[in-house]
Amino acid sequence: MADLEQRQSWGTRLGLILAMAGNAVGLGNFWRFPYQLGKWGGGAFLIPYFAALFLLGIPLMWIEWTMGRHGGKYGHGTEGPMVYLMARTSVGPRAAAIWAGIAGMLALGVTILLNSYYLHIVGWTLGYAYLSATGGYMDKTVSTGAYFVNYIQSPGLVMTFWVITLALLGIAVARGVSGGIEKWVSVMMPTLYVICIILIIRVLTLGAPVKPEWSTIKGLDYIWHPDWSKITFQSALAAAGQIFFTLSLGMGIINNYASYLKPDDDVVLSGFATVSLNEFAEVVLGGTIALPIAYAYMGPDGMGAGVGLSFISLPNIFRDMPGGQIWGALWFLLLFFAGYTSAIAMYNYLVALLEEDLKIKRTVASILVFLAYIAAGLPVALEPILTKTADLAYLTELDNWIGSYFLVVLGLVEVVVAAWLFVDSKTKKPALWDEMMRGSFWPTLGKWWFHVVMRWITPIYIVVLLVGTTINYYKDGYLKLVPSFVEKTPALIPWVNGARIVLLAVFILGFVEAYMTIKNKYADEIKQNKVLLEK
Ligand code: ALA
Repeated sequence: MADLEQRQSWGTRLGLILAMAGNAVGLGNFWRFPYQLGKWGGGAFLIPYFAALFLLGIPLMWIEWTMGRHGGKYGHGTEGPMVYLMARTSVGPRAAAIWAGIAGMLALGVTILLNSYYLHIVGWTLGYAYLSATGGYMDKTVSTGAYFVNYIQSPGLVMTFWVITLALLGIAVARGVSGGIEKWVSVMMPTLYVICIILIIRVLTLGAPVKPEWSTIKGLDYIWHPDWSKITFQSALAAAGQIFFTLSLGMGIINNYASYLKPDDDVVLSGFATVSLNEFAEVVLGGTIALPIAYAYMGPDGMGAGVGLSFISLPNIFRDMPGGQIWGALWFLLLFFAGYTSAIAMYNYLVALLEEDLKIKRTVASILVFLAYIAAGLPVALEPILTKTADLAYLTELDNWIGSYFLVVLGLVEVVVAAWLFVDSKTKKPALWDEMMRGSFWPTLGKWWFHVVMRWITPIYIVVLLVGTTINYYKDGYLKLVPSFVEKTPALIPWVNGARIVLLAVFILGFVEAYMTIKNKYADEIKQNKVLLEK
């Protein structure tokens, strides 16, 4: 087992906070949040959103920081062993190894497969930043919708910007946690906030360029006007899903970053800082850019632009805006920085797994992960090119399961293990609270928070979210052999089935990898089914 001394660590507290903020602040904040907000009624979405933030997001963030720091003490930066170390205290090492297998399986699924398409979207943002600056989509004879379809069907464009993105990630991760990741995010995150501010100033000074009643301020009013009558169970589910995605919960990557902490480093205030920086970037900054621009140019219709908001509706607006090429380039650069600093955390998770479980050197591991991402991402790139469609069925199927469902399952596993199964080996009393509060800069947090929220409300909230999502999936036909979204396009059915097979294969690999790691590293414990090593 790797010794504590051998593990990498963050260079500075500020570097750690920026890295964690970069991990959380991603495409979810600037691309996903605005269209969800528009779709679910603006202010009406924010009410269940804040409820989920407090009852689900913040508790789970603290759990993941605590699990990560605890795992790091034993030389682990991945989900499987982290779950094992906590669960073994009550259910014993053998049963804990199964929990570890399940957690390892889910986290591998997210870090390989969610990133397999996330990296493509990050690549598109880089491509679009370049095309904005060079005037690529400014020609009004082609609609921006058709332009986007042409982009994803052009092998040269898609591959070039995707591979550049991946190479930049690989170079940074290969240089280590403080020497690579921390250095890159320490430049990228402040730059990201500066770009946001510049864009916001532009948005707020736009006025009402098309119709007097379509001002950006009216757009902001739509977002911030809470209409309780528009809240539905569906919007509450969407809000809770957004909290998971935007805070990078249930992915294993917050835990991974926290594993590079020292055993007594604060997790409570730092975890809260991560949430705060993310929410500032999402609600205040993310909410003040895309939707108000769309409102100013398209009126209330712009609010329902959906997934096409960033890549189709906004470019159409940049064509009409004075200096649109520059604003477009800044917008897509913002998306690129946001996506890059999240993708790097998923990249590092896989490198840590190869480093710690298979003893592969970081530089070699970074190259292997690069190749794995090329392999995993190829179907995403090839589908539009080979089928001449733009439905992105492979991506959609993966996103339905990995990006919207299994991360919630992993969140449930984590909360059950940390808040219920993790006990003090002598007293058998729950141990999460003391573990979490060790070294905390925030000593006054009431223990009721643990007993009421973390042990009861959070897991129940997650179960309701999972049941509700499952019912939705059933109604929407996602559970069918041929899901409804490809029923009318038979050419896409193999791509959906392909996604399912790949998902299953990665899950099997993830389970076996995590389980075998535990079996090898904790062979004596498993044999005697008794906790032997405690730090
Ligand atoms: N939390 C990351 C995002 O928001 C994954 O995109």
